[in-house]
Amino acid sequence: MRYLIIYAHPNPKSFNHAIREKVEAKLEREGRQYDVRDLYELGFDPVLKGSDFAGFKQGKPPEDIKREQDFIKNADTLIFIHPVWWFGQPAILKGYIDRVLSFGFAYTADEKGLRGLLNGKKAIILNTTGGAEEDYNKNGIKDAIGKTTDTGTFGLCGIEVILHKFFHSVPTVSNDTREKMLQEIGNLSF
Ligand SMILES: Cc1cc2nc3c(=O)[nH]c(=O)nc-3n(C[C@H](O)[C@H](O)[C@H](O)COP(=O)(O)O)c2cc1C
Repeated sequence: MRYLIIYAHPNPKSFNHAIREKVEAKLEREGRQYDVRDLYELGFDPVLKGSDFAGFKQGKPPEDIKREQDFIKNADTLIFIHPVWWFGQPAILKGYIDRVLSFGFAYTADEKGLRGLLNGKKAIILNTTGGAEEDYNKNGIKDAIGKTTDTGTFGLCGIEVILHKFFHSVPTVSNDTREKMLQEIGNLSF
């Protein structure tokens, strides 16, 4: 079982970075094999280009995309760690999804419609939010994100989201609460 952490936060002092450290510590403690793709550190180019489409069509994606696709190919479980920004992914991660989960790699289409090509892979999504849990539940945002991300994006590619966990109100809760959130990661089963 090989894991791939896909991490999107620009600030090494962020809570997201602390989550990433906890996840890595857990994987190491449990003797799991894993890779990390830190999209900001890599300077990943998130802008899908006209020329990318030509590469997808010929089955020859550009080198930067191919490299990320190879990491996905080698992994059984993808672990996404990122904050919720404007009720979605940070743009660098959105662009990673646009470019890396490409036609011919992550999905294809035939007379029956769209079909995922990454069946058998699993995903874990760890999100932080500024918004409160009760608001996410009450106004339907949690369900909406679940539908667009877990079903609409990863599900379409055949990837099963086995855990989508939100850590809420991160900037406004106490240090103790944040510490408890980090402790929870050690107890998650994945
Ligand atoms: C550009 C931007 C957009 C944001 N949009 C949202 C949002 O739509 N919903 C929300 O709950 N929090 C939003 N936030 C708050 C962040 O989710 C929150 O500050 C972050 O998850 C805390 O984790 P961090 O300390 O690791 O950054 C936004 C923050 C930024 C900088």
